[in-house]
Amino acid sequence: MIDFKCDYRKYISTEEFGKRVADTRHYIAKIQQDDFGGWLDLPINYDKDEFARIKEAAKRINDSSDYLVCIGIGGSYLGHRAVIEALGGERGRTKILYAGNSLSARGLESVLTQIGDKDFSVNVISKSGTTTEPAVAFRVLKAKLVEKYGADEAAKRIYATTDANKGALHDEAIAKGYESFVVPDNIGGRYSVLTAVGLLAIAVAGVDIDRLMDGAEEERAALISDGGRAAEYAVLRNVMLENGYNIEVLANFEPNFMYFNEWWKQLFGESEGKDGKGIFPASVVYSTDLHSMGQYMQEGRRELFETFVEIANEYDAIMVPQSDENLDGLRYLEGRKLDAICKVANQATREAHLNGGVPVMEIILPALDERAIGALIYFFELSCALSALTLGVNPFNQPGVEAYKTRMFELLGKPGYDKK
Ligand code: PA5
Repeated sequence: MIDFKCDYRKYISTEEFGKRVADTRHYIAKIQQDDFGGWLDLPINYDKDEFARIKEAAKRINDSSDYLVCIGIGGSYLGHRAVIEALGGERGRTKILYAGNSLSARGLESVLTQIGDKDFSVNVISKSGTTTEPAVAFRVLKAKLVEKYGADEAAKRIYATTDANKGALHDEAIAKGYESFVVPDNIGGRYSVLTAVGLLAIAVAGVDIDRLMDGAEEERAALISDGGRAAEYAVLRNVMLENGYNIEVLANFEPNFMYFNEWWKQLFGESEGKDGKGIFPASVVYSTDLHSMGQYMQEGRRELFETFVEIANEYDAIMVPQSDENLDGLRYLEGRKLDAICKVANQATREAHLNGGVPVMEIILPALDERAIGALIYFFELSCALSALTLGVNPFNQPGVEAYKTRMFELLGKPGYDKK
């Protein structure tokens, strides 16, 4: 379903490329056996009872709340925001707000101001159940819920997504009787968007989560035996790195993809950036960024390659209208669809950057809908894991994230941490 293209012959021979793609096959079995490889078979092996409960909870939230505040950070936040925004935002009554993804007082204050005296519920998401940013935001929002609704009703408006057996959030959810959903043990945060971590908010936004899972399942079927196009992308990323291109810029022409870019950056950055290795993941949204980063892309240091995410079908809305006066000189565009013009801009950018010495890859979705987004998530998850394994790093840990936490806890005087 997801197509991938790249004219790689300048960087690797066809024979060597085919051999290296075939060699990635054994990594699929390795992922399958890994303690954190649960996402690989998730589209055909998920908890159907919980899935039904997610839909029921989403309906309840839609019936009772103007806002759902999703509290979480990193893998417990970016995936659902990426999907909801890529598909055009919330479709029903309930708008989604995000909290606990920073320690910014202004950010949290703005969420509280937006809620005002409207009805709201909270989905607090933390696999560990102890991450500081969401824990602090949860405390603040819980206090607002209790103040507005009283303790009993507040508890009914809190949905906890966390570990099945342990952690502070798990224990609190049991003690207070919050409806709870599980982050599976064998799926790490950044690979968890198609679990309850992402699905509750996505369902509340009115996105069809059955179709999202169908798309992932279809993509899994296409890739699971030999990695297919995901293996090609994974191998070529590493080939680019070997050729001195150590920055990958994910580029697309849809402003609604901004958070998809953020999710992708976390997925690849946290999976690969370790042991002094890794491609630095960056992103742009064109044509907006052609008027800012476009100069650098065309003529800056030649150490980056660019991966375009494109949508094959044409979007019908909005045509350039006729004008007798033609004062703006746009007659040559009259009657053309805006999306068709955008696609030409995409092609022109690819060609210009290629000519400017930027290796270009293309990842193509058939359409922008639930199935395609489900497929794209699976495609990126698999290509990320294959790419990291090809690079020789563990795709599923993130030891480097602890360094700032330890120092912050020391400075804040958290029990168990000596103030230095
Ligand atoms: O991908 C990851 O594992 C991380 O980004 C985590 O999702 C993030 O640190 C949040 O952790 P938790 O869900 O335990 O609060």
